[in-house]
Amino acid sequence: MSAPFTADLTGRTALITGASSGIGHAIADLYLRNGATVVGVHRRAVTGHASGYVPVIADLGEPAQVRAAAEEVLRQHRVDILVNNAGLNIRHPFEDFPGEDWDRVQQLNIRAVMELTQLIGRPMLERGAGVVINLASMLSFTGGFTASAYAASKGAIAQLTKSVANEWAPKGVRVNAIAPGFIATEMNVALVADKTRNRQILERIPAGRWGTAQDIAGAALFLASDAARFVHGTVLPVDGGYLAR
Ligand SMILES: NC(=O)c1ccc[n+]([C@@H]2O[C@H](COP(=O)([O-])OP(=O)(O)OC[C@H]3O[C@@H](n4cnc5c(N)ncnc54)[C@H](OP(=O)(O)O)[C@@H]3O)[C@@H](O)[C@H]2O)c1
Repeated sequence: MSAPFTADLTGRTALITGASSGIGHAIADLYLRNGATVVGVHRRAVTGHASGYVPVIADLGEPAQVRAAAEEVLRQHRVDILVNNAGLNIRHPFEDFPGEDWDRVQQLNIRAVMELTQLIGRPMLERGAGVVINLASMLSFTGGFTASAYAASKGAIAQLTKSVANEWAPKGVRVNAIAPGFIATEMNVALVADKTRNRQILERIPAGRWGTAQDIAGAALFLASDAARFVHGTVLPVDGGYLAR
């Protein structure tokens, strides 16, 4: 096991959505280890985080709960770093895609991100300082297969990241996105288990392996830290070279 990544986040508070598992859990762990206070928003009770972790239970698939969660957090915390990580993929052939599944994906993956970024971002703008990190995807760049709602939402995330970065960079708030490649988390259990798809995926990744949630956490630590102080509006692929192939 290599040494954990380091960057000093002492005194900063991060709000991370979807910190109960996968990538969000790994980002929360790494931020905590680097001195941050972490407020995590998710539906499940969470285990395994170090002290300094503050859970807020909310379903971001429900518009009213997005606002309520943001208000609850802002009553008690000054948020320096917002990580919009919670996300959902529902697969159907496009011609049969049910409207209600389409809406569920858009609500969590883009609408909740837009609203949370407004609510948490406004106090950052007043202070003239803050960091927003959105979770994009390979499907921000490619179309994928039977994932049209997800691809549409992640394409929107990439564009939202750039537009908000343009507006907020002059006001001291940095907005960026990470586009993870194939990462072995709960979201991909079925793909990892499918021998044929797994082989096809590995053949396309120059690094020759699935990514880990910790690989993405390293990029999230960089973007949150002062090492990234001149990085605005980027969508950073962390993909073992997948997009370069
Ligand atoms: N894994 C990959 O290969 C990959 C690739 C590209 C992009 N991404 C993106 O990276 C992000 C994290 O993915 P992951 O693989 O870590 O996913 P994951 O393991 O499935 O975790 C998703 C997280 O989102 C939370 N969540 C789901 N629905 C929610 C809701 N309605 N309200 C509040 N929280 C909710 C879940 O917590 P609860 O169940 O407790 O609510 C969980 O903590 C997503 O935006 C995903 O699109 C992942």
